[in-house]
Amino acid sequence: MTPYLHFGEQENVLAVRVDNSQQPDARWYSGSGIYRHVWLTITDGLHVAHWGTFVRTPLATEPLARVELLTQIQNETDSAKNCTVVIVIVDAEGKLVGEAQSRHPIASSHTHEFVQRIKVIQPRLWSVDDPYLYRVQSLVKDGERVVDEYETPLGIREICFGADQGFLLNGHRIKIDGVCLHHDGGCVGAAVPESVWERRLETLKAMGCSGIRSSHYPPSPEFLDVCDRMGFLVMDENFDEWRMGKFQYGYHDHFDEWTVHDTVSMVRRDRNHPSVVIWSVGNEISEQTVPEGVEILKMLVDVVHKEDPTRPVTSACDNIEAHVPATEAFLSALDVVGYNYVDRWAERRELCYSVDRQRYPKRKMIGTENVSVAGVRGEYDLEGMHGWRGPYHTRMIRAEQLWKFTRLYDYVAGDFMWTGIDYLGETRWPAKNTSCGPIDLCGFPKDEFYFYQSQWTDAPMLHLFPHWTWSGREGEVIPVICYTNCDRVELFLNGRSFGEQILAFPRYGMDPSKGWGEQDWMSFVRPTTADLHLRWTVPYEPGVLKAVGRRDGEVVCEQEIVTAGTAAQIKLTSDREAIAVDGRDVVHLTVQVLDVQGHPVPTADDLITFDVQGPGRIVGVDNGNPISHEPFQSNRRRASSGLCLAIVQSTATPGMLQVMASAAGLAAGSVTVQTH
Ligand code: GAL
Repeated sequence: MTPYLHFGEQENVLAVRVDNSQQPDARWYSGSGIYRHVWLTITDGLHVAHWGTFVRTPLATEPLARVELLTQIQNETDSAKNCTVVIVIVDAEGKLVGEAQSRHPIASSHTHEFVQRIKVIQPRLWSVDDPYLYRVQSLVKDGERVVDEYETPLGIREICFGADQGFLLNGHRIKIDGVCLHHDGGCVGAAVPESVWERRLETLKAMGCSGIRSSHYPPSPEFLDVCDRMGFLVMDENFDEWRMGKFQYGYHDHFDEWTVHDTVSMVRRDRNHPSVVIWSVGNEISEQTVPEGVEILKMLVDVVHKEDPTRPVTSACDNIEAHVPATEAFLSALDVVGYNYVDRWAERRELCYSVDRQRYPKRKMIGTENVSVAGVRGEYDLEGMHGWRGPYHTRMIRAEQLWKFTRLYDYVAGDFMWTGIDYLGETRWPAKNTSCGPIDLCGFPKDEFYFYQSQWTDAPMLHLFPHWTWSGREGEVIPVICYTNCDRVELFLNGRSFGEQILAFPRYGMDPSKGWGEQDWMSFVRPTTADLHLRWTVPYEPGVLKAVGRRDGEVVCEQEIVTAGTAAQIKLTSDREAIAVDGRDVVHLTVQVLDVQGHPVPTADDLITFDVQGPGRIVGVDNGNPISHEPFQSNRRRASSGLCLAIVQSTATPGMLQVMASAAGLAAGSVTVQTH
């Protein structure tokens, strides 16, 4: 902006005009206007260039790390400068762990790159389970005068993708148990407060998720900050199309003019995030099957490597086994080949990974986008759940096949399911959002959340469904399904046992230090009715359905589902006790409809009214149901399958927030939230 500004007394007017009249411009809900944070940065003439630092860790071991910091200093003044850059590395408590200082002359209108190296003894390495962050603080001096201060996050970690071993973090082989995510935050649309992402990512973490693919454009920088802090492994992606478009007015209209600029921007902006472990330059790019695609791909890969030689580049390919397949030249120009829907084209029973492993043993492979098990939270098609051919089983069998394979074979680095959370758009009326995630648009877990938890976590868990409130269906045989990471589960109805089921592929009992492929699988192959889930058929009678999970004969967890009476009361809970007084922070308030004894009513759809007293305002309400057409901006929402949500944002005024949720015929619920 500098050339257009008035300096001194005269005021500047900054006008922003958005023209988003050309629609549709994307395959999903893109939002419109300024929906991410924008900063106006004012610097001295001598300063760190825009996204001008690059911190990397050429050595990251437990005894020692070598940190290398590249800093571009721009001299936009009229005279040469004798510039000093002082860098210090501090740990999470602010304690100094290393420092360096360099001086260099920089001519007017020139940029100089400082390269400084610092040893860190016994660093605490950044990992999925312990995402420890250091900070690099840079001071820029013109002579003795400090003219700029800049901070860069630092996670000391080593990443490696191998053809045989898949993905290694700090030398340990781990599977990337990942999900694809779109950018919207459900009822808040495209302008998503950080705390909405914090809650959503906490839920994903509880599911055992360790990876996120930002499909199909770079996420906001704050989103990556949260990933750094929580320990997610991110695939940062820039494009859904290149020159050959998928929709009118899409990025293809701008590809030739903007592609290099936008790719450089993504990499420079995001390369200091330890969470980012791989770049993706495209999703299901049409050019993967034509010779022209190879040229564009190589150009993009070169741009990324030049800006960041430390991470590999992939592209999510959906035509690897298609009738018109991706070209070999295209796939071999990728550092890691991204497989979308590995089972889509397979006429045989195998996933196309195994065929390609034979043909290209040096190929590095990752599942960039694959099937999820999902549906609408709390809705059950009991007839469909009985048969082995219904939609539930088709998706379940595909997901189980995928995860058995992904777990077994080390050479597949991991997988990102489509999608981790439901998102706005890309659906058919009367639905206005997808229901393909194990978490709904409100961030509420669906039953399928627990399928992934059973595959991705170790603490004993089990989850039974459907609910047990089927008034009028007494005597009818109901399919009861259980997701668990125990090795066996026994089911009881009103104290009577319906027998113990044994899991054929339990996660429990695996030795995590060994690759899945090195385990003694024969000891896990036992007679069973299912592979990754358990199943009973139980004649319905009201009461208590109870499951008891065992490992090596010991009871390690239990769950009870109780037949509910009529709706009588509202339980209102908040995800935080206090939020910041900054006009940005939010609290999530969950309504659960209960019967008089406090049991959840799984079918409740009462119309809930929220009343907020104090310094806060409702920024969105929702119930997660794709065909609910009530407005997101309101103080009322009908519950769906017993739940609904209100998101309340702070203002600039401190004080106590009192929220009450009420509905006709129900005892109201209320919570108090402090703002500070
Ligand atoms: C994929 C695509 C995603 C989404 C998904 C829907 O092929 O990459 O963006 O459209 O299909 O199932």
